[in-house]
Amino acid sequence: MDNRPIGVFDSGLGGLTAVRELKRVLPQENIIYFGDTGRVPYGGRSPSTILQYAKEDIAFLLSKDVKCVMAACGTVSSILPTSFTDTLPVPFIGVVEAAANAAANATCNRKIGVIGTAATIRSKSYEQHLKHRLPDCQIFARACPMFVPLVENGYLGKGNPITTAIAKEYLIDLSNAEVDTLILGCTHYPLIADIISEVIGSTVTLIDPGKETADAALQILKSQNLLAENNGSASYFVSDSVNSFRSISNRFLEEYAGGEVAQIDLTQAL
Ligand code: DGL
Repeated sequence: MDNRPIGVFDSGLGGLTAVRELKRVLPQENIIYFGDTGRVPYGGRSPSTILQYAKEDIAFLLSKDVKCVMAACGTVSSILPTSFTDTLPVPFIGVVEAAANAAANATCNRKIGVIGTAATIRSKSYEQHLKHRLPDCQIFARACPMFVPLVENGYLGKGNPITTAIAKEYLIDLSNAEVDTLILGCTHYPLIADIISEVIGSTVTLIDPGKETADAALQILKSQNLLAENNGSASYFVSDSVNSFRSISNRFLEEYAGGEVAQIDLTQAL
C-alpha cells in the first residue's frame, strides 16, 4: 500500500479527462493535478520546448511527493523519451500505449483514425504502437490544432456551431476513408467527443486516452503494490488564473467536481 497521491499533469484542462476516469476506477486515490494553463497549448511547439516544459511540470509534481506521474497529455507522452522517463524516481505513465492498444482491440475493418496536436501527429507515436499491435492496419492521421484553444475557451457542448464547423473541416478525410475507430489522441478532445461523434458518425468507436490510461494505471499500481486507502481528494494547481479553470473543470468533472484550485508560479515552486 502507498497512500501518497497520484500526480497528473497536462498543458491545461485536457488532463481532467484522465482525472475523471481515475476517480471512477480508483476512488480511494488522492490526486494532485497540474495544468500548465499559462503556457497552453504545447502542441504547436518544438519537441525541445515540450520536453523542457514537461520536465518542469514533472519536477513540480515530484515536489509534492507523488507516488507516480501520469502525463495526461498526448503531446508530452509522444515526445518524452524513455531515456528520460526511465530515470524518474517513481513510475511514469503516458497515454499513447493504452489508447493504441484499445484502438487495436476495437477496430473491425482495421482502418483507424488518429487525431491529435501537430506535435503528436508529427511524432507518429500512435502509428508506431498501432503498427506494432496490428501490422496490417491502415492509419489515417490528422492534426487538429484549433481544438485545444476551443476547449480551453469553453466552446463545448453538442451542436456548438463553431466547434462543429471546424470538426467538419478536420474530419472529412477520415470520414471518407471509412475509419471504424478514431483515437482522440489529445486528452482535450474527449471534452468535445459529442461534437466529434456527431460529425464523424455514431458508428465510429471513439477511443478516449484518459479512460484507457486510467484503466492501465489501476493495473500498474496494483502490480507494484502502490494502491492507496484514502478519501479520494483532489488538489488542482494551474500556472495561470484559476477562474476559467475552475468553472470549466467543475462543469466537466460533474459528480467528481470539487477540490481546491490554486495558481502557482512554476519557477518559484521548484
Ligand atoms: N491535452 C494535450 C494533449 O493531449 C494538449 C496539448 C496542447 O497543449 O496542445 O496533447
